[in-house]
Amino acid sequence: MQPAPVTKYRPFPPVALPNRQWPDRTFTHAPIWCSVDLRDGNQALAQPMSVDEKLEFFDLLVQIGFKEIEVGFPSASQIEFDFCRRLIDEHRVPDDVAIQVLCQCREELIVRSLEALRGAKNAIFHLYNSTSPKQREYVFKATRDEIKAIAVQGTKWVKQYAAPLVAAGTRMRFEYSPESFTSTELEFALEVCEAVTDAWQPTAADKIILNLPATVEYATPNVHADQIEWMCTHLSRRDRTIVSLHTHNDRGTGVAATELALLAGADRVEGTLFGNGERTGNLDIVTVALNLYTHGIHPGLDFGDINRIREIYERCTRLEVPPRQPYAGELVFTAFSGSHQDAIKKSWALQQPGAPWDVLYIPIDPADIGRSYKAIIRINSQSGKGGVAYVLENEFGFQLPKLMHKEIGRLINDVADEKGTELTPAQIHEVFQREYLDRTTPLTLEHFKAAERDGTVSCEVSIKLDGRAQKLTGTGNGPIDAFVRALGTTSLPKFEVLSYSEHSLGKGAEARAVSYIQVKTDRGHTLYGAGIDTNIELASIKAVVSALNRALAKK
Ligand code: KIV
Ligand code: ZN
Repeated sequence: MQPAPVTKYRPFPPVALPNRQWPDRTFTHAPIWCSVDLRDGNQALAQPMSVDEKLEFFDLLVQIGFKEIEVGFPSASQIEFDFCRRLIDEHRVPDDVAIQVLCQCREELIVRSLEALRGAKNAIFHLYNSTSPKQREYVFKATRDEIKAIAVQGTKWVKQYAAPLVAAGTRMRFEYSPESFTSTELEFALEVCEAVTDAWQPTAADKIILNLPATVEYATPNVHADQIEWMCTHLSRRDRTIVSLHTHNDRGTGVAATELALLAGADRVEGTLFGNGERTGNLDIVTVALNLYTHGIHPGLDFGDINRIREIYERCTRLEVPPRQPYAGELVFTAFSGSHQDAIKKSWALQQPGAPWDVLYIPIDPADIGRSYKAIIRINSQSGKGGVAYVLENEFGFQLPKLMHKEIGRLINDVADEKGTELTPAQIHEVFQREYLDRTTPLTLEHFKAAERDGTVSCEVSIKLDGRAQKLTGTGNGPIDAFVRALGTTSLPKFEVLSYSEHSLGKGAEARAVSYIQVKTDRGHTLYGAGIDTNIELASIKAVVSALNRALAKK
């Protein structure tokens, strides 16, 4: 990098808009959406989609609910042309969906694109030419007037050559993009758009779409919003114009730029699923749509099965949705951090069915987009006690007493630290099983029988201690108390029971009891044991044995 001062790059000039309105606005409705996956997205793929893949993708876009779909650049390649023809000839386009084609302002290309659209019910002809000073100077070597004339002439050709299709029943709408709009002087962009509008002659019932692309994202989102608000307030036929956005993501702020520009007055959004597109991509429509949804506005698009959408997208584009991608990424509903897990668990427990969504750290109910709750809490060395307890409860049904969370959390953390990787629920269960439920040495319970008489419980016990069989008896105010007293007659350390809890595990004939017992030994150890049995009394006796064996294992 160049050392400071950085003279190689320049700041982006702001827009003089002292009375800007967008900062005080909020969203009230969803925009019109237009998918450009099959054109802008597809042309950015190392291996563009085959016709079959494009057909599958088109069906997916229709299922999601897109009513405007840019299907290609039919004058640019035979595949694009054939694809457009197949959609029309095989009647694959629902009546309420408009297919859109992109074209440069050249007569023969316009004619060819219209051939591709012949017989369509509902179409949008998307014409573009580049307008920025650098494009004018470096690429086209054309003056402002020449650039404007190209756009106007192109519009007239579309009007002229589309007439037979319109006469034959096609609803033909028109979109014009001053490509590189955000790098164009605003007054000149306006001048070109006004001239194109003059040539097209839109009506209130059949508006012109003026698409104002951030072909390359150079500015911050607030400057983009100012540019859009400036255009919205200066267009002379705003009531006959749909102002459309088409952001790219070079600075990583395509979503923000689109959102602020919607507040600035735009009506329509072009973008792709998961932000596929040239360089850093086009706008990710999934994110903007679901951002609206999480503010209480239905986007009019259905992302209720985001996993399926992602699967088709990944297969057709051969791109991967990154794990941190908003809403769709593998890890976006997963918390590893202990404090986050704790907050999720507590707020989740308070979430009432039907009440406004209020789970901390998770801005959308994963179920709304077909994601599962299962992976919400995952355990690595950063995780806390609450997370481990959550996994044991949600995956395996163990409702550990609160005081036990810390103990098991520490144990699992040590294992995760040692392994240096995330622990799966099965591995967590394995540690729990090994550490608590399988603890049967050096003290082994062979037999336990208790009987109650006049409020006193007597027990007969057979144990092995360090491999030596012993028979014991004891009495107490309950089976656990009697067992503790029986063990008091052995060489085991003396201990007292501090707490006890139990619940059933599973349902019906398969149901078993699980019991958790916390003991304190005279050697200063306070720890838990756990036991499972079909007999609830035996589950708690096993839990005492588990606690003692764990205590004996401590140095
Ligand atoms: O990014 C862009 O400017 C485009 C236009 C053709 C609309 O894709
Ligand atoms: Zn683009």
